[in-house]
This record gives sequence, C-alpha cells and structure tokens, in this order.
Amino acid sequence: MEPRRNKLKLHNGTKKKIVAGNWKLHKSPAEVGEFFAELKKLDLAALNSQLAIFPALVTLSAAVEAARGLAVLIGSQNSSQHLQGAFTGEVSPKVVKQMGAELALVGHSERRVLFGETDQLLAGKVKQAQDSELTVCFCVGETLSEREANLTEKVLAQQLEAGLSLANSKTPIWIAYEPVWAIGTGKIATSGQVRQTHEFIRNLLLKLDFKSAAILYGGSVKAENAKELSQIPNVDGFLVGGASLEASSFFDIAKATVC
Ligand code: PGA
Repeated sequence: MEPRRNKLKLHNGTKKKIVAGNWKLHKSPAEVGEFFAELKKLDLAALNSQLAIFPALVTLSAAVEAARGLAVLIGSQNSSQHLQGAFTGEVSPKVVKQMGAELALVGHSERRVLFGETDQLLAGKVKQAQDSELTVCFCVGETLSEREANLTEKVLAQQLEAGLSLANSKTPIWIAYEPVWAIGTGKIATSGQVRQTHEFIRNLLLKLDFKSAAILYGGSVKAENAKELSQIPNVDGFLVGGASLEASSFFDIAKATVC
C-alpha cells in the first residue's frame, strides 16, 4: 500500500488548531468506513482546524484508506519502543508509518494506569516514534487526589521531564493535557484551571526547549464547551474521546473551535 502523504504542517507554526479524536477500543472496519463517509458529507473546507483521528490499532489500515483524500491525519493509539523483534503484541512505529499513519499517541492515562506504562518506558516510545518520523501526541495529566493535594504541577513536570527526556526538541510535538478526573466523566476543568495549567506546561516546555509544541486539552470536550476552551491562551486544540465517535459531533467540536 502506498503511504498517504499529507503536506499540512503539524504544529502551531500554522494558525490552525488541532482537533484530534481518540477512538479507544471502538469501531469495526465497517464502522470506520461509515464515520468517514459521514464526515465527507460535511463542509470540512469551512473548518479552520486540523483534524486527526486515532482509531483502534486493528482498524488503522481501514482508517487510512477511508480518510484518503480528506485533510484528516491518522495516528496509532500506541507505539512500541521497539521497531521489530521478539516482542509479541507490540506495535512498530516504523510499520505504522509505512501504513500511511502520521501520528502516534503515547502516554494516555489509560495506558499508564491500566497497562502500567512508566515514564521511563514512555520516554523510549516517544523517541522511537519520532525516529520513525511520526508526530507524537504525548499525554499528561493528574488524578483528582493529586489535584486536591496541590500536586498538579509537580506531577506534570515529572511526566513531561521524564517522558520527553529522549525526545528531539526541534521536532514538532503535540502535548495533550488531560486531567485524569475529567476523562470520560463529563467533568470538565474550569477555564481558570485550564488557563493556569496550560500556561505552566507552556513555560516548562519553553524551559525544556520545546518551542514548536502544540498543547491540546482533553477530558469531556464537547461542541458545547469547545468554543470557550479554545479561546483560553495556550490551548492549541483538543484531544476528544467520546464525542469524536460520531462524525457530526466531532465536526461540531471543530466548528466551535476558535482559531
Ligand atoms: P473523553 O476522553 O473526551 O471521552 O473524556 C478523552 C480522552 O481519553 O482522550
């Protein structure tokens, strides 16, 4: 299969914001096709956002095919620190790239919590994905008890400093700030919390020399809250779970996003 090349720039060097959907373990190949068929009917040219979808890995190929001709980037939800070898069940970023995907999601809180992925492991995954020419979307976020104990900044600094320790700071990267307590719960961080946390992340990234990083917010983003959230300084876009599963609600979020 010929890799799909997309000439769009991937970071906030453009004026575009990023609206990325994380489908987790949802959708069959047929449902992936239906989603993109629905999306094609909508007025994507009117959007000012760069769209991206992270389909379940077994449907990556179906998503690349279905998104052909659309300005939607496709990415893997996981990406191994290994390229090949005796690593049963792993996902080679090199092959992900060959299949026509352009992004790799690394460090989602479900991977950290449910699959025991450590900061050290994630640093290797980030590096290998970048070396394979995938743009990394690296996720960070605090739990509710960490926020209540005033540990948010400490936790985020630890996750970012460790997770990016092997990364190339000159390569564009997406950082998704997703408070764990806001993921799939319908609870949304307040504008003040998002403003303060994104500013903290931006300053830390500048200190670490990641000047071309885009910072996405994630956690119960919907069309109803996207407009307000998108106007907060240092919010360069969104990582959307539940509301990205339907083409219309995903489109509505992008439409509500102010660039
Ligand atoms: P949610 O998920 O939008 O359903 O809260 C976000 C995510 O897990 O990336």
